[in-house]
Amino acid sequence: MTAGGVSQSEVSQSDVTTAWERHAGWWQAHHTAGEDPEYEDQIIPLIVEQCGNTHRILDLGCGEGQVARALVAARSDREVIGLDIAHAQLLTAATRGGGLRLLRGDLTTLPFRSGSFDGAVACLVFDHVVDFERTLDEVTRVLTPGGIFVFLINHPLMQTPDSGWIDDQILGEHYWRVGPYAVDRVWSEEIAPGVDFPFVHRPISRYINAMAARGLLVEEMLEPLPTPGFVAMATEYEELVGIPRLLIMRLRRQP
Ligand SMILES: C[S@@+](CC[C@H](N)C(=O)[O-])C[C@H]1O[C@@H](n2cnc3c(N)ncnc32)[C@H](O)[C@@H]1O
Repeated sequence: MTAGGVSQSEVSQSDVTTAWERHAGWWQAHHTAGEDPEYEDQIIPLIVEQCGNTHRILDLGCGEGQVARALVAARSDREVIGLDIAHAQLLTAATRGGGLRLLRGDLTTLPFRSGSFDGAVACLVFDHVVDFERTLDEVTRVLTPGGIFVFLINHPLMQTPDSGWIDDQILGEHYWRVGPYAVDRVWSEEIAPGVDFPFVHRPISRYINAMAARGLLVEEMLEPLPTPGFVAMATEYEELVGIPRLLIMRLRRQP
């Protein structure tokens, strides 16, 4: 893992879009269609559970549609619309089917009337969204009063810029280094050879305070621990079984 730090002003949303267009195929091959035990064992079931009996859901940054397909499959009377900025993701989503409606668009300007959805989901998307406050404005606007927003990100404490495994051969120590947590930062990270994505880090309080200011009330917050299936695939995480990799919140738009 390398963390080539770049300052906030050097990364725009169009850099994020370009990266997703370029690397969508890599991401789909490694993290969808049953390839990623964290999605299969944890992320998808938790999101389906958190969405309860919501009827009309907007999947923000739906990617190739794995979360949206599971939401459709969970309830026969449910309508799910997946919106993403990357053609390369939407093309695969269209091929994989599953009863979704798909739309290309940017989260900062949602092409829906106010109060169109009783549910919204953002799964591992805000980690890439540069203008998160405008996006939160839009999510709040398109939700009905009383509607829910299921928000899932990489746990900000684990995924600070410059975080990563340290293998100290001299001291014989192997540990996860946590970088500066309390500041916002956008940086580019090479997560596999030749595959780099811009990531956005914000401390948890930034999210919570921005949500509270928009009347999005946290009803439940989860910090699930890595599952056995994930640890079997990434054995270095055996030492981290007590540290969550994900942060999930279910928020309700206040009337
Ligand atoms: C890590 S993928 C997650 C995909 C899907 N939510 C899932 O969990 O399978 C992040 C997705 O967010 C999309 N995305 C990033 N910024 C966006 C924006 N401003 N508007 C719409 N989609 C965006 C990317 O194109 C990418 O498909």
